[in-house]
Amino acid sequence: MTKLGKVLLWAAITLVVLLVVAISLTTGWRPIIGPRTRTLTARKFESTPQRLERGRYLANGTSGCIYCHSEHDLLKRDEPIPASQRGAGQVLPYLGLPGRIVASNITPDPQTGAGSWTDDQFASIDPPDNVREHVERLESATSHSAAATEKE
Ligand code: HEC
Repeated sequence: MTKLGKVLLWAAITLVVLLVVAISLTTGWRPIIGPRTRTLTARKFESTPQRLERGRYLANGTSGCIYCHSEHDLLKRDEPIPASQRGAGQVLPYLGLPGRIVASNITPDPQTGAGSWTDDQFASIDPPDNVREHVERLESATSHSAAATEKE
């Protein structure tokens, strides 16, 4: 191999390694290899008042589902989110990121929301699987953009 050939080969290898490191440390590989998925089943969960109450507690409180998935003034943290907006979706104001990040409409509306989802479709995004992953990914994207904004 000529000297130029060797230099070009090492330059290419270095570029690939840098790219792998950069992707791993920033967006991660999911945008490239796609979301984690599994085959859906026809399983059904029994609906009980206790489960409904637990779901309401998780969605409204600790898991932040309704907070992200409802349009409201993010600066007014203590004000209740209007009933008409609860779960109806929101464009998240993440500064410094390319494109628009939209938290989907997860209301029971069969046309625009998640009303026609099967039980297993919900289970497939249930914590601790994909929902935790999507929240963590968004949080890491936010901290990257916050760090970028601070540097500016
Ligand atoms: C940090 C904000 C945030 C939180 C907290 C959050 N979500 Fe999301 N959610 C999003 C965004 C943004 C999307 C859209 C992701 C995409 O398009 O890839 C999404 C997508 C979804 C989807 C998929 C909808 C579809 O049409 O494919 C469901 C269902 C969902 N979230 C439910 C939940 C539940 C349940 C919780 C609480 C356990 C939750 N989310 C918490 C931001 C959030």
